[in-house]
Amino acid sequence: MAANEDPLKRIVSHAKEYGYVFPSSEIYDGLSAAYDYGIYGVELKNNIKEYWWKTMVHGNENIVGLDSAIFMHPTTWKASGHVDAFNDPLIDNKDSKKRYRADVLLEDYMEKIRIQKIEKEVKKAAKRFGDDFDKETFLKTNPRVLQYTQKIVDISSRMGQLLEANDLNGIKALIEELGIVCPISGTSNWTDVRQFNLMFSTELGSTADGSSKIYLRPETCQGIFVNFLNVQKSGRMKVPFGVAQIGKAFRNEIIARQFIFRMREFEQMEMQYFVKPGTELEAYEEWKERRLKWHKNLGIDPSKYRVHDHIKLAHYANAACDIEYDFPMGFKELEGVHSRTDFDLKSHEDESGKKLQYFDPEENKSYTPYVIETSIGLDRMFLAVFSNSLVEETLEDGSSRVVMKLPAALAPVKCAVLPLLKKDGLPEMAKEIFNDLKLDFNMQYDEKDAIGKRYRRQDAIGTPFAITIDHDSLEHKTVTLRDRDTMKQARVSVSELKQILSEKTSMAELVKGAL
Ligand code: GAP
Repeated sequence: MAANEDPLKRIVSHAKEYGYVFPSSEIYDGLSAAYDYGIYGVELKNNIKEYWWKTMVHGNENIVGLDSAIFMHPTTWKASGHVDAFNDPLIDNKDSKKRYRADVLLEDYMEKIRIQKIEKEVKKAAKRFGDDFDKETFLKTNPRVLQYTQKIVDISSRMGQLLEANDLNGIKALIEELGIVCPISGTSNWTDVRQFNLMFSTELGSTADGSSKIYLRPETCQGIFVNFLNVQKSGRMKVPFGVAQIGKAFRNEIIARQFIFRMREFEQMEMQYFVKPGTELEAYEEWKERRLKWHKNLGIDPSKYRVHDHIKLAHYANAACDIEYDFPMGFKELEGVHSRTDFDLKSHEDESGKKLQYFDPEENKSYTPYVIETSIGLDRMFLAVFSNSLVEETLEDGSSRVVMKLPAALAPVKCAVLPLLKKDGLPEMAKEIFNDLKLDFNMQYDEKDAIGKRYRRQDAIGTPFAITIDHDSLEHKTVTLRDRDTMKQARVSVSELKQILSEKTSMAELVKGAL
């Protein structure tokens, strides 16, 4: 990759070329922030889901699964607070007619100060001081840099206070005071700032008078809360217990960008862990650790993860953090772990008039459990795994190869079967091996092109193993097994293949490390 190439662009283009992710409805020029998962994308996504589901549900006796409907009774979203407070502050430019998130305009402005002013000073100084340049000390001591840094801190704190107070006029005044202009028209002819609800709504029912407004769920967890008693009673669950769910969520994001990082239709993997009040902070710390273990178990460099503890908490939370990942565009939220108190169950009790309590046989009393939530975006996890795996290597002979070093258990295709030549009975033997393995592993048969080209194709889609059938295979019932990462080949007997592949690509083995 050229030094100045945008790393995300390379990922988007590899994902499209190799059948992982396509822009939605591309023949109509696409639909912004909607993507389709292609032939390998759907397999990788399913494998990530399986890794999560097996770790959370099958790996824990006290966690069970659920698959609730996307449409829910509209009062659900009143109780959860989404009807009143799931908003973004919006502003329009009257000349370009373009709409922006007011807070993003301010954030972009601060980022511009960082890149155009601070980074420029850093570059100048680095050039001047050469090897003696110490960036950290420079950032802490250079008067001009300190001035710019202070400006960013001031803007950020004013923005935070104005948003907290829901002072929309104040936000507009701040945008005007800083002279922020629309990137399209170049003018500061702004409308007032308005709150815009992020939920998609539609009508239930076919006639105008018989219909009612319902929402596409903006998070999956409310399906868990409203089913609290159904699950607890049918599963005879004892607190503490968890309910896990994977499913689609929808948000009418104003600024949807950065590929599959922020979409309008996406998938979440959420788990609500119901605990006795008073034990929630201990459970919160435990889940924070357990979720980090799940991530790091994939062999991704631990320095690519960091935890951002929330200082300012949502009104219903008593602890919260984001697990952030170093995406190609920098550290950003990948997963949230939240201690949500009894807010959701209590709100649903209030709105529905139905008791959502747990009778604790040991204490001989009923109470509303507290909840620890772990909530990860499946598409963001896909992007994290995909971007971490994609590497370009220079080989000993000076040539280069593009390879997706996916963990074997997550790889879409586990093994390719490649007859060395398209004759002499090699394809027939290869097909036999392929048919014998295809129901145990996702296999791919390929006889087109020279063998080197076929290996490169499998490297580019991330297939961890390739079986090659040559003339010796016919005679000795052996094949070569090529390892994607080392490119080393070992001669093995055909009868051993199933056992070797099972050991090397086992999801169960991967999950064991995460528990
Ligand atoms: N139930 C809690 C909840 O929904 P959230 O922080 O709003 O919390 C949880 O979302 C996770 O869902 C995020 O950490 C992120 O991974 C994912 N997510 C949220 N909005 C998204 C979007 N527009 N596109 C893709 N993933 C998104």
